[in-house]
Amino acid sequence: MLEIWGVRYSYPDGHEALRGVTFSVCEGEKIALAGANGSGKSTLLLHLAGAIDVQEGRITFKGDASQEALRKNIGLTFQDSDDELLMPTVLEDATFSLVAGGMSVNEARERARKILASLGIAHLAERPPHKLSGGEKRMVSFAGVLAGEPEVLALDEPSAGLDPRARRRVINFLRETSKTIILATHDLDMALDVCTRAIILSDGAVACEGELPDLFINREVLEANGLELPLRYSYSTS
Ligand SMILES: Nc1ncnc2c1ncn2[C@@H]1O[C@H](COP(=O)(O)OP(=O)(O)OP(=O)(O)O)[C@@H](O)[C@H]1O
Ligand SMILES: [Mg+2]
Repeated sequence: MLEIWGVRYSYPDGHEALRGVTFSVCEGEKIALAGANGSGKSTLLLHLAGAIDVQEGRITFKGDASQEALRKNIGLTFQDSDDELLMPTVLEDATFSLVAGGMSVNEARERARKILASLGIAHLAERPPHKLSGGEKRMVSFAGVLAGEPEVLALDEPSAGLDPRARRRVINFLRETSKTIILATHDLDMALDVCTRAIILSDGAVACEGELPDLFINREVLEANGLELPLRYSYSTS
């Protein structure tokens, strides 16, 4: 469904963030993207969502290499929620792109309210997004992406700053949905709960990929890539 082939990318200051990334994602697959700070996860997700132009290499969604196909079908929650929450209220934020896409305001509001309720944040609907707490902002930006009903969810550190219940609600949602998921995270326990396969990036390239949980209990692989055992395994073995 999604093919990433030989993607290289240098930021305008010359820093080479991706050095030839190749992998593919099947329809309905839930795949984790792990790797140390600065390994290129966010840069890669920005490419997948069509927010960054491919400089070298190719990304296709169902065979279509256009940035529009990526933008339309891959919904990205940014690592920094402030980058995407721009409207005066949470509800307007969640309905903005729907109304811009031609949906009636009432229908858009109804859909957004349902999503906010399913994520346990209905009480935030009339609040200004920029005044929310970090975890609230993250939940709201997740709701905004879900409202657009993209085929693929590209999630950049979705559990960062969430309290345990909100984190569990997000995990449950991601487990239950049939959507394709690409989950960039340092929360390897969340990745184990949601994903069946993982890719580990190191220094802008794919260092290894494999099935879960096997990949995340391989101490050599984890060590070589600046990662540590997921909490559930480190408790049981130390
Ligand atoms: N705007 C930018 N200009 C120049 N270099 C950048 C920019 N954004 C990121 N980089 C660099 O690109 C590399 C990859 O960054 P990226 O944010 O993709 O990593 P990451 O794996 O998401 O890290 P983290 O785990 O900290 O979120 C890093 O070395 C980073 O310093
Ligand atoms: Mg990142």
